[in-house]
Amino acid sequence: MEIDRRAFFAGLGGVAAVAAMADEAKAEALEHHMMLQLNVANQAASQSKFPTAAEVAAQIETQPSRRGTGNLFVSHTGNVKRLTPLPERPTLVDYYKLRFMATSNHCLQSANRALQNGMSEEIVLACLLHDTVQDLIKVDHGWWGAQMYEPYVSEKVSFAIRYHQALRFYEDKEHGYEYPDLYRRMFGSDYKPEPYIEATYQMVRNHKWYLEPRMVTVNDLYAFDPKVNPTLDQFVDIIGRNFKQPKEGLGFDNSPVAHMWRSISRPDAPL
Ligand SMILES: [Fe+2]
Ligand SMILES: [Fe+2]
Repeated sequence: MEIDRRAFFAGLGGVAAVAAMADEAKAEALEHHMMLQLNVANQAASQSKFPTAAEVAAQIETQPSRRGTGNLFVSHTGNVKRLTPLPERPTLVDYYKLRFMATSNHCLQSANRALQNGMSEEIVLACLLHDTVQDLIKVDHGWWGAQMYEPYVSEKVSFAIRYHQALRFYEDKEHGYEYPDLYRRMFGSDYKPEPYIEATYQMVRNHKWYLEPRMVTVNDLYAFDPKVNPTLDQFVDIIGRNFKQPKEGLGFDNSPVAHMWRSISRPDAPL
């Protein structure tokens, strides 16, 4: 595949930012960039026709891994790369820089959009975190993500992360959310959300905090935009005010979710 170098560097914050990255991070970023380019190419090819849910299901046995597998655990472009070890007491920022390679740009872009739209700090933080758990696991990522962040953020933030997953299937034009074409491609044009998603939607729709996850979906981005290059630096203060960083480091604070962080930290551990 031919790499658009300009778009690749721009997507990572420019040439200087790329130069400062560890080799492994660069390799991961390149792999991710290629995946995105591939997605764009596939999207263009299928622009005229979305697959049916049955056609999507028929693709399962054409792939070596399942679609719900976390990004860290599979490579779509050859072998996986060695990872830079995290510091002894890793912070959210360490995970963001050294493990959330596949999801960070998308989440940064969403948080940046939320910031520009004047959202509360809690919604900006929810946007910044909303898909990062997909580096661990993709299936039911709203619930996994909320659980992983729950000990460290406010109830509103974890509510927003948990339920953005279900709300994405339901339009709310009044608040600026339309069903995305990306989902017609990913799930099939005639896909109907499962009953637990429908029931969750009904519950959240009537909840006093409905707008928290709804605003995550409104500020979510469905495509990689190489022209927008937010960096984590602009969110460090918001993280500092709204994320309770454990002093032992994420993964070592003996919380009920510490193992999830360790699994992201050490995905090469065989058991
Ligand atoms: Fe999501
Ligand atoms: Fe997202």
